[in-house]
Amino acid sequence: MQYYHISPLASCIFFSCLFLSTQARWHSHTKHKHTHSHKSSKILEPPSPSPEPREPYDQPVPEPEPEPASPPFNGNFYNATGVLDLRIFGAVGDGITDDTKALKVAWDTACQSDSAAIILAPRGFSFMIQSTIFTGPCQSGIVLKVDGTLMPPDGPESWPKNNSKHQWLVFYRINEMSIEGGGVIDGRGKKWWDLPCKPHKGIHGKTPRGPCDSPIAIRFFMSSNLTVQGLKIKNSPQFHFRFDNCKNVNIDSIYITAPALSPNTDGIHIENTNDVKIYNTVVSNGDDCVSIGSGCYDVDIKNITCGPGHGISIGSLGNHNSQACVTNITVRDSVIKVSDNGVRIKTWQGGSGAVSRVTFSNIHMDSVRNPIIIDQFYCLSKDCTNQTSAVFVSDIFYTNIKGTYDVRSPPMHFACSDSVPCTNITLSDVELLPALGDMVLDPYCWNAYGDLQTLTIPPVSCLLEGTPPSIFDNDIDHC
Ligand SMILES: *[C@@H]1O[C@H](CO)[C@@H](O)[C@H](O)[C@H]1NC(C)=O
Ligand SMILES: *[C@@H]1O[C@H](CO)[C@@H](O)[C@H](O)[C@H]1NC(C)=O
Ligand SMILES: *[C@@H]1O[C@H](CO)[C@@H](O)[C@H](O)[C@H]1NC(C)=O
Ligand SMILES: *[C@@H]1O[C@H](CO)[C@@H](O)[C@H](O)[C@H]1NC(C)=O
Ligand SMILES: *[C@@H]1O[C@H](CO)[C@@H](O)[C@H](O)[C@H]1NC(C)=O
Ligand SMILES: *[C@@H]1O[C@H](CO)[C@@H](O)[C@H](O)[C@H]1NC(C)=O
Ligand SMILES: *[C@@H]1O[C@H](CO)[C@@H](O)[C@H](O)[C@H]1NC(C)=O
Repeated sequence: MQYYHISPLASCIFFSCLFLSTQARWHSHTKHKHTHSHKSSKILEPPSPSPEPREPYDQPVPEPEPEPASPPFNGNFYNATGVLDLRIFGAVGDGITDDTKALKVAWDTACQSDSAAIILAPRGFSFMIQSTIFTGPCQSGIVLKVDGTLMPPDGPESWPKNNSKHQWLVFYRINEMSIEGGGVIDGRGKKWWDLPCKPHKGIHGKTPRGPCDSPIAIRFFMSSNLTVQGLKIKNSPQFHFRFDNCKNVNIDSIYITAPALSPNTDGIHIENTNDVKIYNTVVSNGDDCVSIGSGCYDVDIKNITCGPGHGISIGSLGNHNSQACVTNITVRDSVIKVSDNGVRIKTWQGGSGAVSRVTFSNIHMDSVRNPIIIDQFYCLSKDCTNQTSAVFVSDIFYTNIKGTYDVRSPPMHFACSDSVPCTNITLSDVELLPALGDMVLDPYCWNAYGDLQTLTIPPVSCLLEGTPPSIFDNDIDHC
């Protein structure tokens, strides 16, 4: 998560837009209900699936085999199993036709259903959907089952001018929902990554200043009891998933892929979200594998494989002198390979709040730069000044972190603020060897207090002992 941070102003604008379009949608919603609540007698023959174009930069993702055409529509929106097939709502699924309306009507139908409804994007079909906000609350839980392909319009030129360029599919105020299936969500990001406003895409490979919007593929806002399971999602124009103000989020067995050089394509970003479980997931992309923003707590990440990419990140926190509170985060039994960072905590000078009770355990590193890093001087330009306040970092436990590091950076780096030291950093069973070449850089510490429970490889002798006196003198915000 490096280039775009939503300012409070931008999020206010977002919310008011969201609210307005929510209102608008409830009106159109009522209309759709009439047109679609009668029973259609038309038999819709699904078209034969069109072959999907494959772009050369893609990593191979197995495409589902096309299936023989399913039995003709029986006249009900649901069959006995409560499945709402998008084709019943007029979707074509040829990858070209705009199927947004069908998905909206299916959503409205599902949302008003008294029993849990399944919206199905069937196997062998590719549904092109425009940027849309799906709003709740709904009468009961909704399952969006993607067995085929869902995709947005192809790049900024085909994005309707009046659609948000910040996001593609948004789920807002949903109480219980699952996205699952054996299909693919294809963000078609390439044309967005190549925009001349992107990093190093300017004249002579420069990074132009100013905004450069690209849509986040899947966003959840103010929602709870969410599951994302078994899906493949690839090539998002920007973040693949972002959760804001959500509760009880369960992500299991998903595959996220984008090229290593695709800008800002974080796998999963969470913000102001708690009770999050991310299990059995594989992410290779061009930015953070998982990024954990302000206001997150009770996050458990287990059996994730990250890389190539930028590793797992808590932060950046405290930007623009903001307060950030993050606590009770665990990352365990995972692999991070060929990444710019392993497990990172990054905060800006001048913030406030705290990051505490973070455990990184049982993590295998493979050719990672900065496998273990705390950076309280995070800055994206050259003109950040040191300030007296900082997000307080404490109670960070690293245990059983083994593997190899890229010798361009030290294997351990604890850079803490002058006025707000990091405290209670514990290292146990850390063994990091150079992936190639000789160990050149020693672990780095600045104003970092903590203990070694076991000897480490390489040895760490720079952690300060005990508790710094300044944490009693300074005005530290414990959240
Ligand atoms: C309902 O539709 C789903 C998906 O098309 C299908 O798998 C299931 O067999 C159907 N059930 C009945 C009873 O037709
Ligand atoms: C965007 O513009 C199209 C055509 O001009 C119109 O049909 C559509 O309703 C507009 N959408 C929104 C969200 O305003
Ligand atoms: C989430 O689910 C739990 C139990 O399934 C339920 O008690 C709770 O009300 C749900 N959350 C919300 C916000 O509805
Ligand atoms: C870890 O996740 C991978 C990828 O989903 C899965 O294949 C593997 O079985 C998981 N391992 C365990 C121990 O659950
Ligand atoms: C920490 O988070 C885990 C879930 O990841 C939860 O089970 C546990 O109760 C939390 N601990 C505290 C002290 O809240
Ligand atoms: C900020 O403080 C750190 C640690 O004292 C120091 O290394 C760095 O040069 C300072 N940066 C600036 C811009 O003064
Ligand atoms: C240090 O942090 C660990 C967790 O890493 C915690 O269990 C312990 O209580 C902390 N010690 C103090 C003195 O706060």
